[in-house]
Amino acid sequence: MLQVNRPRRLRRSPAMRRLVSETTLTVDDLIYPMFVMEGENTRVEVSSMPGCYRYTLDLLLAEIAEVYALGINAIALFPVVPNAKKDDKGTESYNPEGLIQQTVRAIKQAVPDILVITDVALDPFTTHGHDGLVDENGIIVNDPTVEVLVKMSLSQAIAGADMVAPSDMMDGRIGAIRDALDAHGFEDVAILAYSAKYASAYYGPFRDALESAPKSGDKKTYQMDPANTRESLKEVYLDIAEGADIIMVKPALAYLDIIAKVKDATDLPVAAYNVSGEYAMIKAADERGWIDGKKVMLETLTSMKRAGADIILTYFAKEVAQILKKH
Ligand code: PBG
Repeated sequence: MLQVNRPRRLRRSPAMRRLVSETTLTVDDLIYPMFVMEGENTRVEVSSMPGCYRYTLDLLLAEIAEVYALGINAIALFPVVPNAKKDDKGTESYNPEGLIQQTVRAIKQAVPDILVITDVALDPFTTHGHDGLVDENGIIVNDPTVEVLVKMSLSQAIAGADMVAPSDMMDGRIGAIRDALDAHGFEDVAILAYSAKYASAYYGPFRDALESAPKSGDKKTYQMDPANTRESLKEVYLDIAEGADIIMVKPALAYLDIIAKVKDATDLPVAAYNVSGEYAMIKAADERGWIDGKKVMLETLTSMKRAGADIILTYFAKEVAQILKKH
């Protein structure tokens, strides 16, 4: 009779462990978020995100060529908009000659095969820093915001975006954007929906990068309460019904349970956003010598895949690509 069960047999050697490994981190599944700013020949490191830069378009193109050569298939673009171009309605967001529109066109010329994903939300473009329009009582108004988001999405599709990614959390925007894209001949432009996006303090460094922190109030009337699970499924089912192609959970690390539940709830690909604060924590602890940043990075990203993420947006994408390339 069997005296002892010996699970350790399958952990004895690297070859055995590789054979039985259940989760694989691959560069194929990574989306690299990148920041673009106006000007020439300049890159500025984001102080709270060591290793991440805001690039002017010329340097961004060089960087994209480099990361594409490393195997990265997809980038998500975020614009740093000068204050002079912000207003309370975010009109610069759908300027056909705006920074994002110009950037998308240039990337599609220079590195045509990399997938270009554009952000749909007003916060980089508004003086008040909210993702939507604000009325005289300080309320973020839903349907008028959706109209602007539709214009923004269309201008990005016209510029050549492969995928638009609404990160604003207004109700009904996925359906409105899908309808407008289809009506204008952009049936093939995909929608990556930030479906379960929580009102999180983990976005701090990103708001530093874009100087987009809300000037007053918070985002709790549109982004979700971190205490809620079932509400995430409500949002996911609505976005699926409205035509989303990929569903996203954001942030990722403190929401692995949500990733797992969403994965069970849908057949669509599930993306997780390893957000700026998650990146900053690992970098800060690594700089102090308190953790081995590279190992913690790989373990963290693997945990997101294990939880069910098919796709990960991560500022670590380039580092991961460099490490995986060496194997
Ligand atoms: C805003 C937006 C945010 C992020 C992506 N799009 C911040 C916010 O909602 O305030 C955060 C990304 C990150 O922290 O890495 N539309």
